[in-house]
Amino acid sequence: MQLELTEQILHFIEHHKKADSIDLAAEFKEDHQKVIGALKSIEAHGEILKSETTTKKVWDLTNEGHYVIEHGSHEATVFNAIPNAGILQADLMKTSPNAKVGFSKAMNAGWIVIDKSGKTPLVKRKVESIDDVVQQHLIEIQSGKSTNIPDNIKADYKKRKLLVENTIKSFIITKGPEFTTTLTKLETDLTSDMLTSGAWKNLKFKEYNFDALGAVPQAGYQHPLLKVRTEVSEIFTQMGFVEMPTNNYVEASFWNFDALFQPQMHPARDAQDTFFLSIPEKSYKFPTSYLERVKNAHENGGNGSIGYRYNWKIEEAQKNILRTHTTGVSARMLYKLANQEGGFKPVKYFSIDKVFRNETLDATHLAEFHQVEGVIAGVDISLGGLKGIISEFFSKMGLTDVQFKPAYNPYTEPSMEIFAYHKGLGKLIEIGNSGMFRREMLDPMNIPSNVNVYGYGLSLERPTMIKYGIKNIRELIGPKVDLKMVQESALCRLDK
Ligand code: PHE
Repeated sequence: MQLELTEQILHFIEHHKKADSIDLAAEFKEDHQKVIGALKSIEAHGEILKSETTTKKVWDLTNEGHYVIEHGSHEATVFNAIPNAGILQADLMKTSPNAKVGFSKAMNAGWIVIDKSGKTPLVKRKVESIDDVVQQHLIEIQSGKSTNIPDNIKADYKKRKLLVENTIKSFIITKGPEFTTTLTKLETDLTSDMLTSGAWKNLKFKEYNFDALGAVPQAGYQHPLLKVRTEVSEIFTQMGFVEMPTNNYVEASFWNFDALFQPQMHPARDAQDTFFLSIPEKSYKFPTSYLERVKNAHENGGNGSIGYRYNWKIEEAQKNILRTHTTGVSARMLYKLANQEGGFKPVKYFSIDKVFRNETLDATHLAEFHQVEGVIAGVDISLGGLKGIISEFFSKMGLTDVQFKPAYNPYTEPSMEIFAYHKGLGKLIEIGNSGMFRREMLDPMNIPSNVNVYGYGLSLERPTMIKYGIKNIRELIGPKVDLKMVQESALCRLDK
């Protein structure tokens, strides 16, 4: 329907060059608003038409005017009510509600007379028949042809309250630089097919209407990931941890890898796993003497370590990346801690924020996820303490029987994968990674030698999916998230 109207309009403009939207509405017997809607949808296709707003005065009928169209003018009604023999004026006044006006108008028009020849004066017809011009004029005005009627007559009808004058806004339409009479369908979605075939180059896309009002949500709901995030953050806070500032998705390789004693030829650095930035490609500000000590630890080790024995290059450390873990933030915080005024003080830090890995996407992997990280630094603290903290943390999360399995991390020794028994699933599941940070990482930072630092990391998505029984990660994050899932997910889980 709408499509038809848009094309009707385009054909009309092709022939007439110019039109007023009000006249278009009259031409196509459509509501003016509908014509404006059609013009708006033509506008979405580009500069097909040009339009200028204009205001115009139009004559509209009042209710009384409509009454006259249906029943005749008041004077005609009076004329028609008079029988051949005449009628008493008082009786004539009872024949219609507007008889008084009708009577004086009919007198003025010379249609009727008062015959005083008999005993009582009677109102009689003076002419045989009449033309109800008022009614005819109003019919013409109703059909949009008010221009045929002289202005003084319309002014008179206005005085008689048969007409009102209204101002309306309309558009003067002319051809635009891209004028055409055929509209190609506008694409609403950019698909991966269009991208791979290159078809997008020749397609026309519908513009976003940023003014459109969205459906008003009945209430706000917290996403399950945010609920678990809040829970995790509360547990850490209860245990005396302080949150680290993680507001930098972009990290220099130096902090993400080198500071963590991760060798420059480590496979995790290559483009397989890491997103490298092209703009800005490199970082330039590093604490210089610390950087020298990191270089030395990589090349020669120290304190009994022989290092990795390769040529450490600043160029590699300068490369900007999307951080692959938040442990780079931990490294920066530990460096600050060791070099702050007043020297080192024991700390417990945590963070929960996004990390990025160039992984193949599947039901349980995304290229970005949230990492939960805990770091503890203290004098002479031991692996037993780490196990204790981890067990306490997970029991507060509802996971008991925490078990550890030896693992490898370039920056921790020993390293332990963390497993826990999940009651709901009825089996042991891997939930995180942990370890004691190596001296090769801590010494260049100037962390005192009697201070041990340990930490652990896990993903936020994994426990969330387990808690809420979500099998595919795309149901949890991304454009396919069903808002109903968010609305209906439990406020909290009592059977942790
Ligand atoms: N950074 C590790 C990871 O990404 C987690 C971790 C943090 C391990 C701290 C040990 C110490 O999996």
